[in-house]
Amino acid sequence: MTEIEKEPVVAVLNKILESELAGVVRYTHYSFLVFGFARIPIVSWLRQQADESLVHAQQAGEWITTLGAYPSLAIGPLLDSHTFDIGSILRESLEAEQIALGHYRELLSLVEGRAVALEEFARQMIQVEELHVGEVDKMLRRPGSTMTSPQRGMGTAAE
Ligand SMILES: [Fe+2]
Repeated sequence: MTEIEKEPVVAVLNKILESELAGVVRYTHYSFLVFGFARIPIVSWLRQQADESLVHAQQAGEWITTLGAYPSLAIGPLLDSHTFDIGSILRESLEAEQIALGHYRELLSLVEGRAVALEEFARQMIQVEELHVGEVDKMLRRPGSTMTSPQRGMGTAAE
């Protein structure tokens, strides 16, 4: 088995850590801004996503120190669109989740066939994040339509 190149692997893990921490802030922030009849389930879903992002950030951070590197204290990009509209909140979340998914795919390409446990981690996270993206996409669909939302982009599911 070829050894992994530590530096690029740690760099991607730090990008993952930063984007998951941004997810914690983003989902928590939006959970304060949901009003109306559907508030309770949507708030609890957003809080659940914040908790899940924190767990993902912790897993990435643990991997960084396992590799003997220093975890970033930075946070990924956050966009305050001052929106109260659930559709915009979900579209913004979908975009951020797709970026995170890209980081996990990058991680997989760096460790595939080189480090079993890290490869397993990357694959598991790709599965979890793909399901998450699919879920958000379904929330953005018009009831009665099986068409994926335009924000989802082409080919995401097949990759
Ligand atoms: Fe995540």
